Amino acid sequence: MTVVINMRDGLDERKIRIAARFILEEKLVAFPTETVYGLGADALNASAVKRIFEAKGRPADNPLIIHIADFNDLKRLAREIPEEARLLAEKFWPGPLTLVLPRSEEVPDVTTGGLDTVAVRMPAHPIALSLIRASTPVAAPSANISGRPSPTLAEHVIDDFYGRIEAIIDGGETKVGVESTVIDLTSERPTLLRPGGLPLEEIENVIGEVEIHPAVKGKLVDIARAPGMKYRHYSPNAQVVVVEGPRERVRAKIRELVKEYRSEGLRVGVMATEETEADAFFHLGKTTEEVARNLFKALRELDRRGVDVIIGEGIEEKGLGLAVMNRLRKAAGYRIVRA
Ligand code: TXA
Ligand code: MG
Repeated sequence: MTVVINMRDGLDERKIRIAARFILEEKLVAFPTETVYGLGADALNASAVKRIFEAKGRPADNPLIIHIADFNDLKRLAREIPEEARLLAEKFWPGPLTLVLPRSEEVPDVTTGGLDTVAVRMPAHPIALSLIRASTPVAAPSANISGRPSPTLAEHVIDDFYGRIEAIIDGGETKVGVESTVIDLTSERPTLLRPGGLPLEEIENVIGEVEIHPAVKGKLVDIARAPGMKYRHYSPNAQVVVVEGPRERVRAKIRELVKEYRSEGLRVGVMATEETEADAFFHLGKTTEEVARNLFKALRELDRRGVDVIIGEGIEEKGLGLAVMNRLRKAAGYRIVRA
């Protein structure tokens, strides 16, 4: 049985206490953050965390992010807090930034997928923060079945998990729309493992140059340091293609591809920043921020409308554009058409 807890009109401390009790009773509670919805469980309780992996169908070696509401909690979770972590946390927490640090004894193996590092973030969402304060540090991957697009609305979580988890807190649409930026501070130099809701440029303004892990732009790889990178991601049922290049040429190429696919008898969906004739169209918005916010919703919505192919417009890899293109290319299984 799943309880849907409505908090679309804002924080309700009485309802938070009910959800917090669920967390402390080893139950699963999906909740909104500023990035995407998370599927939460008590991060320090191995059997609770195990349930997250089962519910998502997530491979056991893909570790979870622990969500905290107070910087002091970091001292319980990390063996060591490097100076860069302090600087970044001070500047960007609460916010869409996850730090990978040496893991403390208190964190169970299941949570970190057996790694000796731990990923931690403080989300910038009143519901998430209250839930954590009323319970404990909360492990939460994105609240989607493994391999599906991340959820930016409670409806997406309901589609994937209704009847399979104890509670879903509906806090309306998430603001950022792509997951947090993940920075590894345990290797020789700070390394970007996943671009996300906090632009890389802003991080570099604080700690200087950050190395970019090759998997961020490239193909799926099999490496131990960033286990999440090797799995299928963000995939709707339809086949996704992404068109990249200079803006005007991209638009022309999209129109051309629509005709081509349709002539083969396929139903075509387009997600782009400008209205395009197709069987289904999703307007991603004008700014990079709007595109990030709408990206996952667009994939789910076009899928729901039953198209065979989804053509996505590639955008510039600046600011949130780096995260957008990382997600879009993965969703496309790296089927990229150059315009
Ligand atoms: O915005 C977000 O980060 C959302 C919300 C709910 O907070 N959460 C999220 O979690 O995106 P998830 O599980 O979908 O993605 C976590 C990513 C994965 O790519 C995982 O491999 C990586 O973080 N990760 C977690 N722990 C790690 C570690 N110790 N070392 C390297 N990568 C780690
Ligand atoms: Mg995820």
